Amino acid sequence: MAPVQINLTVNGTAHQVDVHPMERLLDVLRVKLDCTGCKEGCGEGECGSCSVFLNGNLVNSCLVPALQADGAEVRTVEGLEHDPLGQRLQAGFRECGGAQCGICTPGMLLAAHHLLQHNPTPTLEEVRVGLSGNLCRCTGYMKIYDSVLKAAES
Ligand code: FES
Ligand code: FES
Repeated sequence: MAPVQINLTVNGTAHQVDVHPMERLLDVLRVKLDCTGCKEGCGEGECGSCSVFLNGNLVNSCLVPALQADGAEVRTVEGLEHDPLGQRLQAGFRECGGAQCGICTPGMLLAAHHLLQHNPTPTLEEVRVGLSGNLCRCTGYMKIYDSVLKAAES
């Protein structure tokens, strides 16, 4: 099938991209728009490492057809760089050792950002639930939870 042109805004910058009808948003972001912060872990909606905000909703970009992002606002982990809450989260992860290999970290940061936007002072249990869609093979999770709680305190 012929490619289709879509328009989307990624981290505040407007783009026009030609996509194939079955192309995934994850691939468009990583390959065509060089947003390599979103990672592919499972490729089937289980791990959360490909998380992005799509019109403010946290989604697994491996499950989103690129066509669905036509006209949308997308925010990736790169877009948190100059965001005050994103900076607090980065500091929390640095301070508490929330990142090891880093594959899960972008998705964790976005899920934590989503959580703290809606609940600025979560309990440990609420952090666990807020990050329950994101898998980590390295940290045992406690350092990640500590990092998010640290960001919430700061
Ligand atoms: S790569 Fe998308 S959920 Fe795992
Ligand atoms: S830090 Fe390696 S998967 Fe989480």
